Amino acid sequence: MKILGVETSCDDTAIALIDASGDFDADFKFNTLAHAIHSQKEHEQYGGVFPNVARKEHEKHLVPLLAHVLQKSKLVCQGDALTEGIEKILEREQELLRQLLQFLKTHEKPGIDAIAVTVGPGLEPALWVGINFAKALAHAWNLPIVPVNHMEGHIVISALWDRNNEITNNQETSSKKIQLPMLSLLISGGHTELILSKKWMQYEYIGRTRDDAVGEAFDKVARMLGLPYPGGPAISKLAEAARNNVGIYEIPTLPRPMIYDKNFDFSFAGLKTAVLRKIEANTPVTEEFKKQLAREFEDAVTDVLVDKSMRAIENYSVKTLVIGGGVSANKHLRSQFREQCQGRTLTLLVPPPQFATDNALMIALAGYFRAKRNEFADPMTLSANGNLKLDEREEMPA
Ligand code: KG4
Ligand code: ZN
Repeated sequence: MKILGVETSCDDTAIALIDASGDFDADFKFNTLAHAIHSQKEHEQYGGVFPNVARKEHEKHLVPLLAHVLQKSKLVCQGDALTEGIEKILEREQELLRQLLQFLKTHEKPGIDAIAVTVGPGLEPALWVGINFAKALAHAWNLPIVPVNHMEGHIVISALWDRNNEITNNQETSSKKIQLPMLSLLISGGHTELILSKKWMQYEYIGRTRDDAVGEAFDKVARMLGLPYPGGPAISKLAEAARNNVGIYEIPTLPRPMIYDKNFDFSFAGLKTAVLRKIEANTPVTEEFKKQLAREFEDAVTDVLVDKSMRAIENYSVKTLVIGGGVSANKHLRSQFREQCQGRTLTLLVPPPQFATDNALMIALAGYFRAKRNEFADPMTLSANGNLKLDEREEMPA
């Protein structure tokens, strides 16, 4: 089955095309025909994402990305597209409408089977652009739409990625059998969650953040240190420099919030405030102090995430640990989890760093499994849900 994935939930515009077959845990295989992503730089100056800026940027970039992906995938075309009726679907996205009509005039319908699109969670104005784009394409090419939960995309790509394979176009990637129960630690700009799956594609929240998400904490601390948005990679770089420094430095100490609490919830707002206090007490901050502070912050976050996850693993007799979301690109965090998982009867699955952050490959992959279950959407009622939860979906017969 050939699935086109569309992702516009935050500040990355992404399109991917996969050819997948088989069922999960049996003979699943997928081939990445092409994928493309445009990361919006406009938000850097604000230190966060502005929904209206994101929406306009998605409008500009979807069609060029689609053209690129189709051209790379070299799919056989199957006749004309229907352009009548598209004006109505894209009445709020005039720039996208103009580009899409132009595109459809010069391109035939490609041989794909369904369009998977992120419907939530995320920024609603941004989500709507992707949804309306998917509706317009589905109309033009007479294809079904599969609504996808962005967080399920993060789980699926982390769970299924064969870590021994480097991504190249047209390379086949097959899944290893995943032992259940599976625990997913989702750590991104908007989420910090521990989710238990006793069955494939079924989710039960066992812990979540009570305030800031871990990626949000990275972004805010980066801002305090005068580093660019997104803050995760910048902090990680400073922290790494501190780890490689030989010498004796004064290391600021930060709290490990809720680490001894028996529940599986998190809280990062206090940690962020503690960083602010350290900066205030050491102003003007030296470059060395910044590095040491970044390192201690990364350590504090990692300690809490590792500790809580390991306790959840014991508590629920978990056999597979999946880590996903932008923060799972963090090198130190990955190495600490690897260390902790060694010697246990536990499989650790992490995505390749370039697919830890938002992308459309993960949406196409999750969309494939949903399409296999015939979970297609009615375009008339398909809508964005900024707060969509993983356990909201009705249980469908497999
Ligand atoms: O999953 P994602 O791309 O978008 C959301 O769905 O939120 O995650 C983005 C988050 C940002 O907060 C960013 O600072 C963080 O992931 N991030 C990192 C790293 N790379 C991205 N955090 C820590 N270390 C990294 N290397
Ligand atoms: Zn994400």
